[in-house]
Amino acid sequence: MAKFLVENSGALSGEVHVSGAKNAVLPLMSASILAGDVSVIQEVPKLRDVAVMKEILSSIGGKLEQDDTSESLKIDFSELTSTEADENLVKKMRASFLIMGPLLARKGHAKVYMPGGCVIGARPVELHLKGFEALGADVVVNDKFTEAFAPPGGLKGARIYFYFQNTAATENIMMAASLAEGTTYIENAAEEPEIVDLANFLNKMGASIKGAGTDMIKIDGVKALHGAKHTVIPDRIETGTFMLAAAITRGEILIKNIVPDHVRAVASKLRECGVTVELVDEGLYVNGADRPLVSTGIKTLPYPGFPTDMQSPFMAFLTTVEGDSTVIETVFENRFMHVNELNRMGANIRTEGNRAYVQGGKKLEGAKVRATDLRAGAALVLAGLAAEGTTEVDEIYHIERGYEDFVKKFRDLGAIILRVDE
Ligand code: EPU
Repeated sequence: MAKFLVENSGALSGEVHVSGAKNAVLPLMSASILAGDVSVIQEVPKLRDVAVMKEILSSIGGKLEQDDTSESLKIDFSELTSTEADENLVKKMRASFLIMGPLLARKGHAKVYMPGGCVIGARPVELHLKGFEALGADVVVNDKFTEAFAPPGGLKGARIYFYFQNTAATENIMMAASLAEGTTYIENAAEEPEIVDLANFLNKMGASIKGAGTDMIKIDGVKALHGAKHTVIPDRIETGTFMLAAAITRGEILIKNIVPDHVRAVASKLRECGVTVELVDEGLYVNGADRPLVSTGIKTLPYPGFPTDMQSPFMAFLTTVEGDSTVIETVFENRFMHVNELNRMGANIRTEGNRAYVQGGKKLEGAKVRATDLRAGAALVLAGLAAEGTTEVDEIYHIERGYEDFVKKFRDLGAIILRVDE
């Protein structure tokens, strides 16, 4: 299995270009199922999760074209040959559940095996299913798969209330409702930028969606959707990861291809700690060496609150600044697995339920650690850059699911990081 060897790298410096967003491109690829012809998605990052989604789409009849050098992906769904995706593929990634809405809307049937993904909590799908049922579908669930059948005449618009905000459920229902008869309202919808990106793509395909990015989305169903061309938004979590890289190494990084609004929460917390975060003409300038850094508290929340995906990288940073910090995780019930790993590197973090108490100002030391999930993996690499000695990060396939050119981008900033295959 491959691993990363990370050395103390001093202050990182230079420029980095952020790739298209993983969590935007996966729903966009899924949405292409809804069109009876060709869609083109641009700035598609080369990621393991994207490769899995490509395989899933091919397995149900999609014809996909993307050469090795191009970031433009062509997806032709003039033929949809199956409404059931291969079990082994679906199990590789939680986002595979996003094909359920489009299949159900276009063909009146979908069967999806229980998806896999990072083990960061129970991650049930009942919100999605309640949404499909509200649109008139008959949903059958067992411990292996979920199957849904549209009523005769197809899905019907409905008023759907989500009792908490969830990204993927909002996306699935938005896609299904685009082809339903009549109007659907999603109340307490999630407000993530990836949802806005998906709504923009669907509207280019001929859908009629208003309010994406707010907690009330209105979808007027249409009879058919056509292919469209769309460029994926920049990855806000990758942006945040490089912001933290500048902060934890007390370095200076210019981050290009960013949407400043999407990283407001992370920027504001970093500024609170004393890190310089400035919007300049070419991007976002982040400097962790301008002044002494101080601790802060963070609490993860749905967008526009502090993102759960940035919780572990931010915690790695907090171990290095003077003072005590509290980190509260409210989105996932099991997203503190990096705590043990950071403690192995000399951090002093104690957890109690969904709270982690970080005693800062610790000098981290290299250790053999395990990337327990995608973002936890990134956090350990960040910690390794600031730690004395060598940090060996195992199970890096998690990291490669979601960060494009991870090693190259870090090396270009002066990081000493090596990928070794065992
Ligand atoms: N949940 C339910 N019921 C549901 C659906 C979700 O209780 O029907 C709960 C889960 O148990 C979990 C929380 O809601 O506690 C978040 O749910 P989920 O795992 O379903 O999140 P998601 O919407 O599928 C997206 C991102 C995640 C990101 C979360 C939160 C994609 C493809 N994934 O997941 O990204 O952490 O939103 O913002 O968009 C990552 O990129 O590393 C990642 C995990």
